Amino acid sequence: MSKALIIGCGGVASVVIHKCCQNSEVFEEICIASRTKAKCDALKEKLSGGKTKISTAQVNADHVDELIALINGFGPDIVINVALPYQDLTIMDACLATKTNYMDTANYEPEDTAKFEYSWQWAYRERFEKAGIMALLGCGFDPGVTGVFSAYAMKHYFDEIHYIDILDCNGGDHGYPFATNFNPEINIREVSAKGSYWENGRWVETAPMEIKREYDFDEVGRKDMYLLHHEELESLGLNIKGIKRIRFFMTFGESYLTHLKCLENVGMTSIEPIEFEGKQIVPLQFLKAVLPDPASLGPRTKGKTNIGCIFQGMKDGQEKTYYVYNVCDHQECYREVGSQAVSYTTGVPAMIGAMLVMTGVWKKPGVYNVEEFDPDPFMEALNRWGLPWKENFHPVLVP
Ligand SMILES: NC(=O)c1ccc[n+]([C@@H]2O[C@H](COP(=O)([O-])OP(=O)(O)OC[C@H]3O[C@@H](n4cnc5c(N)ncnc54)[C@H](OP(=O)(O)O)[C@@H]3O)[C@@H](O)[C@H]2O)c1
Repeated sequence: MSKALIIGCGGVASVVIHKCCQNSEVFEEICIASRTKAKCDALKEKLSGGKTKISTAQVNADHVDELIALINGFGPDIVINVALPYQDLTIMDACLATKTNYMDTANYEPEDTAKFEYSWQWAYRERFEKAGIMALLGCGFDPGVTGVFSAYAMKHYFDEIHYIDILDCNGGDHGYPFATNFNPEINIREVSAKGSYWENGRWVETAPMEIKREYDFDEVGRKDMYLLHHEELESLGLNIKGIKRIRFFMTFGESYLTHLKCLENVGMTSIEPIEFEGKQIVPLQFLKAVLPDPASLGPRTKGKTNIGCIFQGMKDGQEKTYYVYNVCDHQECYREVGSQAVSYTTGVPAMIGAMLVMTGVWKKPGVYNVEEFDPDPFMEALNRWGLPWKENFHPVLVP
């Protein structure tokens, strides 16, 4: 019986769980384990009519011993970590101790420093290899599908890729003046950090939101987008040989940016604890508590996301450009799995990555990023499981 243990039961996890249940041939049994067990039980209740057998458990994934006991009790083929980036290392430690495969959608970030990078997880390479188990890192959309798109472009269309621009557009409207589409704490830490891009083998740093461009997105229209630091730049910079520059742009509306600036100016986005009525509180965590829960945005969000990569490089001595992207409709996602497109576009690739590891299609002991594997089975699975992609061989380039 093939089994997956899913840790976390938030917006992304809910999509992963729905998709595992749709794919019961591979996911015969799942265990949903999170800090708040009631959320796991509610999902089990909703989905238990299908073929996938579902159990639930309470776990604090900050504690390796609790995780080890849970993994030993359930005996999964893979642990799908869709809790928060803070838990990546404890879950990897528990996977090592129990010789279980591991997968996540976001790289490790210490809770007290807004700094995310792969070094902490890449440090596990030798230990995973020796244990004969595999860790698949960053298997959501971005990172995740963006790495698969890069491997696919390299395999089928280029001899050398020189430039990659990753464009993440959310044309959805939830009707609130300010809300975040996934975990507010993680989202705000990401967008209020300095920007950076990879050029000629080194990082070029920018002030937050310093570089702005406009782009006309298929099925969405014209949007302002801003250059951000993003984690796949780090792995693609190493894995796409001969790359000269990689940039990541994300669209933001004016209302979002004005609110964010104001919250920053008054100190509400800080992760430094402050004393309030005799208690230590972290302003950003307090802000998270007053903002709408991303899971509640599903029924209200209308519009589409468009996320993809524009490649420039050489094929057979000729210059070549290639744009591959997915367009996803918030309301269609909501009808299918009860979540908006930002959770959907992350949860579907996470299920696909876990499926490829469980079925042995992607299998190598060690710690890997998605672009290190054959992209073809993943690309086929995207079409089959709800994230079909489109190609454009003459895209408008980003200046
Ligand atoms: N690659 C991509 O494209 C992409 C895009 C979006 C998000 N992500 C990543 O996806 C992950 C999930 O995001 P989300 O929006 O689903 O977040 P979310 O809605 O806040 O859900 C997080 C879940 O993790 C649980 N959790 C937190 N700390 C825990 C702990 N110590 N032990 C056990 N469970 C714990 C939470 O439990 P409670 O219910 O008790 O709070 C919650 O169920 C994040 O790592 C995020 O960075 C990746």
